[in-house]
Amino acid sequence: MADDPHQLFDIWLSEAKASEPNDPEAMTLATADADGRPSARMVLLKGHDAGGFVFYTNSQSRKGDELAANPHAALLFHWKSLRRQIRAEGAIAPVSEAEADAYFASRARDSQLGAWASDQSRPLASRALFEARFEATRADHEGRDVPRPPHWWGYRLVPERIEFWSDRQHRLHERRLFTRGPDGNWSEGLLYP
Ligand SMILES: Cc1cc2nc3c(=O)[nH]c(=O)nc-3n(C[C@H](O)[C@H](O)[C@H](O)COP(=O)(O)O)c2cc1C
Repeated sequence: MADDPHQLFDIWLSEAKASEPNDPEAMTLATADADGRPSARMVLLKGHDAGGFVFYTNSQSRKGDELAANPHAALLFHWKSLRRQIRAEGAIAPVSEAEADAYFASRARDSQLGAWASDQSRPLASRALFEARFEATRADHEGRDVPRPPHWWGYRLVPERIEFWSDRQHRLHERRLFTRGPDGNWSEGLLYP
């Protein structure tokens, strides 16, 4: 068993990739506004290493506004096929421009156009309006690369706490909690289920 939570995360994610029917990288992202009121939604994990967990979004979205007001968040993975969950909590930092550019450049062209066409989280009068905006964006970019919109970037959750939960018989589940100390080293303990 790995005693580095990032290594253990990678092992569990690779097992999830082998057994989940779709989107093993899907995770719930919980944020809170300046008054501490929470909200949650799914995003996709697009990078993971000892530095943290990376996802991409529109920084002018509801989550973007909340992260600007309160740069702390929680992530939750739940893999039903494995009966496992992982929780991670910590501070949020933007990825570098170079990292965001590189990831944006790797996306499908229609996804890149969609990032320009969507005012994520703002009211939309009709689906037809969005489709028209998308087609106008496509026409605007005809014959040239689609640059990364300045409001579209990545965030890295730098975990202070990562918990691995696995199902056991009779609800005697296992909970392994890793906490990062001020020296940056991880310590491990168990929690009652
Ligand atoms: C499986 C799944 C993956 C998603 N991945 C992302 C993502 O990586 N980035 C993103 O901005 N929205 C993603 N979404 C859409 C978000 O859940 C959400 O609708 C959107 O980001 C707006 O959230 P907000 O209004 O709270 O900011 C995903 C939705 C699902 C169901």
